[in-house]
Amino acid sequence: MTIRASTPGRRGLDRIMAEKQGLPMTSAPASLTLPRPDDWHLHLRDGAAMAAVVWETARVFGRAIVMPNLKPPVTTVAAAQAYRDRILAALPRGTRFAPLMTLYLTDNTSPPEIAAAKVSGFVHAVKYYPAGATTNSDAGVTALDRVYPALAEMERQGMVLSLHGEVTDPAVDMFDRERVFVDTLLERILRDFPGLRVVLEHITTRESASFVRESSGRIAATITPQHLLYSRNALFAGGLRPHLYCLPILKRESHREALVAAATSGNPRFFLGTDSAPHARAAKETDCGCAGCYSAPAALEMYAEAFEDADALPRLEGFASWFGADFYGLPRNHDTVTLVREAWTLPAACPFGDGAIVPLRAGETLRWRLAEAAPSGIKATPTA
Ligand code: NCD
Ligand code: ZN
Repeated sequence: MTIRASTPGRRGLDRIMAEKQGLPMTSAPASLTLPRPDDWHLHLRDGAAMAAVVWETARVFGRAIVMPNLKPPVTTVAAAQAYRDRILAALPRGTRFAPLMTLYLTDNTSPPEIAAAKVSGFVHAVKYYPAGATTNSDAGVTALDRVYPALAEMERQGMVLSLHGEVTDPAVDMFDRERVFVDTLLERILRDFPGLRVVLEHITTRESASFVRESSGRIAATITPQHLLYSRNALFAGGLRPHLYCLPILKRESHREALVAAATSGNPRFFLGTDSAPHARAAKETDCGCAGCYSAPAALEMYAEAFEDADALPRLEGFASWFGADFYGLPRNHDTVTLVREAWTLPAACPFGDGAIVPLRAGETLRWRLAEAAPSGIKATPTA
């Protein structure tokens, strides 16, 4: 990774800008070049919604684990292949972005379907949603026992289990659901399937971070930008903030600090997964709003801020570009992306099918900007 220092002329300007924005001034490099990162947890939706968002990811990330919680969910290899084809068709020709597909685990997922997923070469994980835990999870797993045959086959095939780690028992407090999942279901899964490789997705608690740190190498975790940048206070800052509502829900500040420590620790079992989860503005700003933060338009820039605030920019490379690929047994990317220190303001909303979508940090000024706007691997060519 190359971190270029500010030129003497710019340093003064940077300092003035930093002071204006209340930013830290200790280390203020002017640019940051890192191997092309991958997003190990992404929601792309389908149809017009997908067409509206996929480029935001493809222009910066080389690959992304694409979550299967469509309506209906992607439960078969055939459905994953068709979905993959639709994603590729929605991108400009020549884009090298690679969607890494997942299957949605249900009570009825059969071992032969798992075996076929492994053989396909394009399905890289199977996603476990406890039924009712989050957006489009109704078809998810109703009881752990029911998926034992599928988990046994995954263990045999070396297929990664991707976990939405929250219990759904309404008696369990909203803020405790991840901790209880880790203490109960996750412990059981790891005990009964000692060879299964597991990603605990979008971790939000100190306990999850320690659990992963203290476990063996077959368990890893993704961490989102919102969980690095915000604690639950932000949900109520000056009024209710629906665009910060995601699942698992933001936790208290001490948990955020533990997540920042984990992400910036250099431990290869913590890596980037945005969980960018687009919902139309109308579905968020309503009486019963959907869960999900749409971070794709500036995800890498937000991670850079979080790492810089922790004085850990040199650790961004492993977290964003290496560790996920290593865990999934895929090659690291060879090309690079560059972030430049250049203040810019995210739009208040972006087009989204027939409506609009409000990105995470809409209308706010970010301090890093992606230097190259072309989709992964291709140069932007002016259109006639
Ligand atoms: C995700 C979505 O909208 O698909 N929402 C979210 O709040 N994270 C689902 C998920 O990953 O839980
Ligand atoms: Zn998700």
